[in-house]
Amino acid sequence: MAQEDVFKKLVAHCKEYGFVFQSSEIYDGLGAVYDYGQNGVELKNNIKKYWWDSMVLLNENVVGLDSAIFMHPTIWKASGHVDAFNDPLIDNKDSKKRYRADVLIEEQLAKYEDKIEKEIEKAHKRFGDSFDPKQFRETNARVLEYQAKWDELQARFVKALNDSNLDELKQIIIDQEIVCPVSGTRNWTDVRQFNLMFSTEMGSTVDGALKIFLRPETAQGIFVNYLNVQKTGRMKIPFGIAQIGKAFRNEIVARQFIFRMREFEQMELQFFVRPGSELEWFQKWKQTRMNWHQALGFGQENYRFHEHDKLAHYANAAVDIEYRFPFGFKEVEGIHSRTDFDLSQHQKFSGKKITYFDPGLNESYVPFVVETSIGVDRMFLQIMAASYYEEEILGEDGKKDMRVVLRIPAPLTPVKLAVLPLMKKDGLAEKAREIIDDLKFDFNCQYDEKDSIGKRYRRQDAIGTPFCVTVDHITLEDETVTIRYRDTMLQDRVRICDLKSLISSEVSMKKLFAKL
Ligand code: GAP
Repeated sequence: MAQEDVFKKLVAHCKEYGFVFQSSEIYDGLGAVYDYGQNGVELKNNIKKYWWDSMVLLNENVVGLDSAIFMHPTIWKASGHVDAFNDPLIDNKDSKKRYRADVLIEEQLAKYEDKIEKEIEKAHKRFGDSFDPKQFRETNARVLEYQAKWDELQARFVKALNDSNLDELKQIIIDQEIVCPVSGTRNWTDVRQFNLMFSTEMGSTVDGALKIFLRPETAQGIFVNYLNVQKTGRMKIPFGIAQIGKAFRNEIVARQFIFRMREFEQMELQFFVRPGSELEWFQKWKQTRMNWHQALGFGQENYRFHEHDKLAHYANAAVDIEYRFPFGFKEVEGIHSRTDFDLSQHQKFSGKKITYFDPGLNESYVPFVVETSIGVDRMFLQIMAASYYEEEILGEDGKKDMRVVLRIPAPLTPVKLAVLPLMKKDGLAEKAREIIDDLKFDFNCQYDEKDSIGKRYRRQDAIGTPFCVTVDHITLEDETVTIRYRDTMLQDRVRICDLKSLISSEVSMKKLFAKL
């Protein structure tokens, strides 16, 4: 199946099984804003817990924070967001559609990459096991031609971005003959900068309302609380402050479902270090974060680092962790060495001294910062994409059937255990309820008595439930049940009194933490 179709199915699945709904759907929706349904909210909460505990619980020198979304507007002047948090936009005059100029060019680069991969794939099929992709890349004329085009375009693109040269961005679009996907024409406007922050007003207009911004990142809430936390927590450098919270960006190209949203959630760590040690810490966090992703078991080959060509105005090093989504490798998390830019700016704009006295060095300085920043929603999409499988199986009647199964790592699944009475009568339903009443304080359990057992298994597979327990007549005699495992579909007969420890060992976050 084409990757595009897989993605479409995934989006439909998210809706059908209560993971993600379009916001305000009965009013025809609101662009790039989504709501999480009964299963989505559970998965999302588990992702946040996996992140929070890995930061705050496992690191003695990391503490948490929950700062307000509304902040003093000068914060965004100091951080550079008022002046520099822009996207370069271009409109197609025929379709009246608006695009990000940088995204159009990135898509063009991806087309060259695709062409190269297709050549390699074709050759692989032709030459079989003896095929050497490295040698092919270095010698094949067609691949070399595409690679040269890619190199030339990439160099020109990076220079235009670094010089903030909007005319050159437009020229690249024209030279590359990039067409509007809707109208198919090259009738483009000039490229303009567009600020991504949403604003609103606080206070009554009679007194003079204050224009405030909805935060585009949670990080600034951490910076402006640096002194509060450091002093009240008696924190010693190096130390970190972690925060999870909503962020808002008026994204123009809001596509690919929950990949790019206007309201989303971030999980950010600002780690404060001695000046001069920041690049060492940057390397450490880069690896720590990659380990966190790979502990989920979705295959190392599906992740890669992407070094930034153009550094943000606050950074002296930056890397993304990318995952191979059905629409290609894309950023899930960013790791930045933010220098002392933010704290120095807040010191300057607030007039308050923001320094740390380092007893080891016997001197005061403005700490440097290494940041790790990941979107909860993007992580959610990554997990859904990696977990979605369509499999051919043998149905109850012995005939071929299909199942959709979400192989979500057990500690993150919305429901851990489904308890299914074989039938409603003969006291089986009551026994099933009894089991749930005993286990519901430990796990998110679901009771289901409707339809055949096969259909009930399919429903649980489709939301990723790792264990289904069936209560039958033997249960009433010997206090045993059948437990069925999601991935293998194998079944065991186990004692009810053993269920808790059996399930605990599989669904505990400790299972993931042990791999970090
Ligand atoms: N404080 C640094 C910062 O905000 P960023 O690269 O702009 O850096 C960090 O964002 C992460 O937030 C991204 O890697 C992505 O996972 C998530 N993110 C950013 N914009 C997003 C959007 N419009 N929708 C969903 N997630 C987004």
